[in-house]
Amino acid sequence: MIKIAVLVSGSGSNLQALIDANLSGQIVGVISNKPEAYALERATKAGIATRVIEHKNYPNRETFDDVMHQQLKDWDVDLVILAGFMRILSAPFVNAWQGKMVNIHPSLLPNYKGMHTHERVLKTGDVWHGCTVHYVTAELDAGQALTQGILKVDLHDNVQSLAARVHVLEHLIYPQAVEWICNGTLQHLDNGQVLYKGQMLEKPIQFCQF
Ligand code: GRF
Repeated sequence: MIKIAVLVSGSGSNLQALIDANLSGQIVGVISNKPEAYALERATKAGIATRVIEHKNYPNRETFDDVMHQQLKDWDVDLVILAGFMRILSAPFVNAWQGKMVNIHPSLLPNYKGMHTHERVLKTGDVWHGCTVHYVTAELDAGQALTQGILKVDLHDNVQSLAARVHVLEHLIYPQAVEWICNGTLQHLDNGQVLYKGQMLEKPIQFCQF
């Protein structure tokens, strides 16, 4: 069974969706860089081990990442899931977990990498918005996309309503992508290619909600 660790900084609603999904992998631990993150309570309630590693206690990014890396090794983790983890990861850490670390981003990548995606979508006047599960690479929000949840921006949408609607989609597509990794439906090959049901994945599997 695949052993999973989830990295969080905040509320952890995606962590909750993963817990509730009864994955065929096992969530063996949750790491937070913030002691007050509500995600830690969710993990404890579910009987999952937690570790707080406060970035501000370390002199630089690499040292902080080394401590996380050691904890992941101690838990014998196969797959790292970023779920609202608000730290940029150092290149050595990302390289060590290449092909074994995924993230969810609140936009239809490659559009709107980075922060404040809902504001930017509204400002541009886009019709389509959503979220993307992708492998993590050294370049921000640029690793191969696995799944996407797509919604149509409503005339009356504002930042709060869009954020809430995207969250609903996140809670659907993240557990699905992770389950596909756990059961081998999605496979990351050593040469960097990703297979879906044994075929090369050319573009993300998309779920639409209108
Ligand atoms: C989500 O919007 C996700 O897209 C982003 O961080 C947020 C985490 O929310 N990466 P939560 O802590 O899972 O509720």
